[in-house]
Amino acid sequence: ALSSFHISEEFGFLLPDPLTELPAPYSPWMDIARELPQLITNHQLRSRVHQMPQLSPQQLRGREELHLAHLVLSFITMGYVWQEGEEGTLLPPSCSLTTSPPSPVLCDTQVLPRNLAVPFWEVSQALGLPPILSHADFVLANWRRKDPNGNLDPIIALPGGESLRGFILVTLLVEKAAVPGIKAIPRALGATLQGDEESLHRALEELAGAIEAMREALRRMHDYVDPEVFYSVIRIFLSGWKDNPAMAHGLIYEGVSPEALAFSGGSAAQSTVLHAFDELLGICHRQDSAFLHRMREYMPPAHRTFVEQIRGAVSPRHLMLSSGNPRLRAAFNRCVSALAELRSYHITIVTKYIAVAAAKAKARRAELSEAGPAVRKAPSALEDKGTGGSHIFSFLKSIRDTTREGMIRA
Ligand code: ALA
Repeated sequence: ALSSFHISEEFGFLLPDPLTELPAPYSPWMDIARELPQLITNHQLRSRVHQMPQLSPQQLRGREELHLAHLVLSFITMGYVWQEGEEGTLLPPSCSLTTSPPSPVLCDTQVLPRNLAVPFWEVSQALGLPPILSHADFVLANWRRKDPNGNLDPIIALPGGESLRGFILVTLLVEKAAVPGIKAIPRALGATLQGDEESLHRALEELAGAIEAMREALRRMHDYVDPEVFYSVIRIFLSGWKDNPAMAHGLIYEGVSPEALAFSGGSAAQSTVLHAFDELLGICHRQDSAFLHRMREYMPPAHRTFVEQIRGAVSPRHLMLSSGNPRLRAAFNRCVSALAELRSYHITIVTKYIAVAAAKAKARRAELSEAGPAVRKAPSALEDKGTGGSHIFSFLKSIRDTTREGMIRA
């Protein structure tokens, strides 16, 4: 059953009706999290974090509370690390210029203070999630009903106002649109095993419809997210400390490990949906498999197991190749081409929100540098990379092209 993989019939990989309040002892976390956009914008978050008591996660009960704690601590961590922009990551509080002798290792690696790092680490261990903000926090666990009409709101926010809200909620709608396709997977696998072509046909048609609906949902990005706000304000807070020149040495989690640790920032590749669909359809991204497989470590473990189970099952592709049923082949190919189209459309979005926005920000930087060094610059370390650290265009195009190769010819 899907529920054994922590998948909901109604919400798919989204956490169904996430908790929005932690037990009272955790109010120091919740209070900061609720004010996060203002604290970051006013440069007050780091000092607020330094005053925060070190709480133990021992009193958190059940997955729901742990997920909310991970959401809250991951957002606080991103705000802490990136509060001063990409040029403000280098000097930890313990490394002032008066420290003598200055330690070069310590002084060019940022430190997450123990009162944040230790509980964040422990909550992450309990959930099997990495100690950084991932898709599971940003989207899957980060929604609530704002009013009885079913309007939604993120639970925790970062700077970026309505565009941030739109970016989270549109991504959430894409996850929601995938649900009929996720539910079709066990049916497609069962039908394949039994050689039941009629049921398989139905399951594939549902899957294709869901992928087409995901693309429709993704279109709404244009209505709710301003590219300049996305690029100059929002994006840095999704950036990680692996494969990122702005934090080349990783992050020291004080009280957890003396060595700096490297974790990737948020990436759509952390969404389980397309991993599951690719495995079902037998689409294999050989060239990009290292990055994609690493992103599975950023999924809730039960979702990762779901993908592995699909991989271990007999793919409908085999039945397709042996049966020669043209109706079945058409339904299968409709899934593959919808998936390739969705990926093409993602490239269009990335062009607008990253490539074009980066070029504009660069032009503005040139003007501003003439205005003097006091002006805050837009981030530039990830101009050519995704926040997850992939080489964004070559990666997305390669994935799209291997998807197309998954078509079955007559
Ligand atoms: N992964 C997205 C980016 O690179 C969020 O901006």
